[in-house]
Amino acid sequence: MKIAAAALLVSGFLSTTYAAIVQTCPSPGICYSLSIPDSTSRSGTGDIFFQLTAPTSLEYVALGQGSGMAGSNMFVMYTSSNGDNVTVSPRLGTGYDMPLYDTSTNIEVLEGSGVSDGIMTANVRCSNCDTWSGGSMDFSSSSAEWIFAVKAGSSMNSGDLDANIGIHDGASSFMFDLAQARGGSADVNPFASTTDGMPVVVSGSDTASSSSSSSSTGNTILLAHGALASLAFVGLFPVGGIVIRVANFTGLIWVHAALQILGVVTYIAAFGLGVYMATQMKMLSAAHPIIGIVLLVIVVVQPMAGWLHHRLFKKYSHRTLWSYVHLWNGRAAIVLGMVNGGLGFALASVSRGTVIAYSVVTGMVGVVYIAAIVMGEVRRRQRAVPDGEKSQRRDDTSGSEENMPRTEHNAPRNSSSRLGWR
Ligand SMILES: *[C@@H]1O[C@H](CO)[C@@H](O)[C@H](O)[C@H]1NC(C)=O
Repeated sequence: MKIAAAALLVSGFLSTTYAAIVQTCPSPGICYSLSIPDSTSRSGTGDIFFQLTAPTSLEYVALGQGSGMAGSNMFVMYTSSNGDNVTVSPRLGTGYDMPLYDTSTNIEVLEGSGVSDGIMTANVRCSNCDTWSGGSMDFSSSSAEWIFAVKAGSSMNSGDLDANIGIHDGASSFMFDLAQARGGSADVNPFASTTDGMPVVVSGSDTASSSSSSSSTGNTILLAHGALASLAFVGLFPVGGIVIRVANFTGLIWVHAALQILGVVTYIAAFGLGVYMATQMKMLSAAHPIIGIVLLVIVVVQPMAGWLHHRLFKKYSHRTLWSYVHLWNGRAAIVLGMVNGGLGFALASVSRGTVIAYSVVTGMVGVVYIAAIVMGEVRRRQRAVPDGEKSQRRDDTSGSEENMPRTEHNAPRNSSSRLGWR
């Protein structure tokens, strides 16, 4: 009994002395936190503290009070004019138009804010966030609805509180558990590293869009997504495209087909993880996921186009429309996939080293891939020269995507039709 009483006393003491922070991280690296001092929690009005953190690969992130953009009391964070700190612009949501700077909101950007290691951080105190033109929030209640929005893009580097901001790529509403955010003094910045006492971080419960507790899972998913998609577009697809042009052995076409089908399966897995993350972040309108969808369509059509090309080539001994669909679909997919990997890195907060490693490997694979295409086409043209035709019988199929053992059926009638060289 004594221990229980002591525990009760200590927990009561803790809850009034130390700040508590609730946090929601809709995506790895993007987090929104809230802390409500005891005095504010008791009266329902007064100072509150909140924090926004996001990678500088985003143009801005915004946190807002309310259930939707219309009538929301919003705080938009972007890099300051010289890029080494952040600008926090209070704005009033109007619906679908750009939210405009609201001069009546009293906020202060606090110590600990800034840009470091590619992460923007804003620690903010708001002294009149309980009401605004368009709404109100009772800080003594147990939970409240908030919204967030993000936009990918280069740093704004603007100190202008009224700066033009483009439409967000993703936005969502979520619940902040205000009861869990309760504690501490209104005089102490709970986000400063030198707070007396450790703030308690609680993940935002009832979050419509994932929570901080899953951020390590989120990182694993992000890592798996990037690794699988890179394996498909920087590994399997180009390697399959290279071997079909440079190698020459019986059954090569099946090695090519197997590599590419493995690539399609790998990409579908990466795509599934990507869709999961994009829906969590409500970021389906950004360029990266849209290109990802286009790529899915291309890579799913590609085996069918390849099969038709193969059948028709065997039948007519020259390239058909499907041959060109297959060739250019494949080339476009590989280039687009490599570029989309870069766009994905811009969305996620990955290290500079990862970006450099990806760029170097992708660049090297790209060079070998293009060289293989050029080599394959040059060989086709050489074979189209009738003189060397007979003496080079053995070489006829090498470096050709039509590489397959020849049969009576597809034996050449004349050189131009055999090689499909127009
Ligand atoms: C950013 O600005 C805030 C508010 O003026 C300040 O407290 C903070 O120290 C600044 N951060 C850096 C890194 O200069």
